[in-house]
Amino acid sequence: MRIVKIGLYSIILVGLLNSCMDNKPKKSLDGKELLTQKCAKCHNLDMPPKSYENEIAPSIMAVTFHLKDFIKSNNPSEHEDKVVNFIKDYVINPSREKSFCDKDSLDSYGVMPSQKGNVTKDELDAIAHYMYQTFDNQKLLKIMAEKSRLAKMPLYQRVLEVSSCKNCHSIKEDKVAPSFEMIASKYSISDRDNLIDSIKNGSRGKWEGKKVPMPPFKEMNSDDIEGFVDWILSLKKNINN
Ligand code: HEC
Ligand code: HEC
Repeated sequence: MRIVKIGLYSIILVGLLNSCMDNKPKKSLDGKELLTQKCAKCHNLDMPPKSYENEIAPSIMAVTFHLKDFIKSNNPSEHEDKVVNFIKDYVINPSREKSFCDKDSLDSYGVMPSQKGNVTKDELDAIAHYMYQTFDNQKLLKIMAEKSRLAKMPLYQRVLEVSSCKNCHSIKEDKVAPSFEMIASKYSISDRDNLIDSIKNGSRGKWEGKKVPMPPFKEMNSDDIEGFVDWILSLKKNINN
């Protein structure tokens, strides 16, 4: 009786294990997410990097551009694989001799510690392909061109371009949200801080008939918020009461 029971239990157990394994989805690995999880504590991932201060490792953009330059391939279609293979090897077996980093940088950073145990081969494959495809000269040029286009705009116009304000607000027209001219005519300069607070923390119930609340914009840069509120208040002079 006992043997039968144990036998039954093990059949159920094996069945359970099998079904777990069968059901495991074979999802493809997300190189971007893995790069952030596994590499960002040392390498900056921005393109271009926001700051070079207190760097403990070169940025991933610098690393990738560097490797693409140094690793040659007669056949362009093999270049990606060559760079990817270098990265996969280097991250597990780094050494002074293998590094393409110049001597001075190597002296200041020190050789990268092996990431063996922190990252699997498959994860590294996804990371390396993502690096190759993302950190690209053409993409950098596009980003830089977009940045300089935005930098040339007046602040209010840039905020309207890059944020979601215009989904609900327009300058003149009363939509889901009051127009910026309506806001300007309701308030005066002494309300500046309250308006800043409404953008940072959201607002509801201050405008009659507005059914959706104003969402908070906690991530928005304070200078942008203050500059935008000053622009709203400056609209007062355009409005003929
Ligand atoms: C503990 C900090 C640290 C972590 C974590 C780290 N690195 Fe590095 N890495 C460095 C440093 C420092 C260097 C520069 C010195 C060198 O070339 O070894 C470097 C250099 C590199 C290089 C350039 C080698 C060359 O020849 O120029 C590659 C490629 C690289 N890292 C990839 C990665 C990837 C991918 C990850 C995540 C899986 C990662 N690193 C995680 C510190 C780190
Ligand atoms: C999802 C729609 C929505 C978005 C997106 C949105 N708003 Fe609003 N906003 C509203 C609504 C609705 C109100 C009126 C809220 C109320 O009744 O208190 C409002 C009110 C305001 C007010 C007046 C607040 C007050 O104290 O009376 C300001 C200023 C404002 N929004 C600025 C912005 C800015 C700047 C952005 C973009 C960064 C933005 N809003 C994005 C819906 C939105």
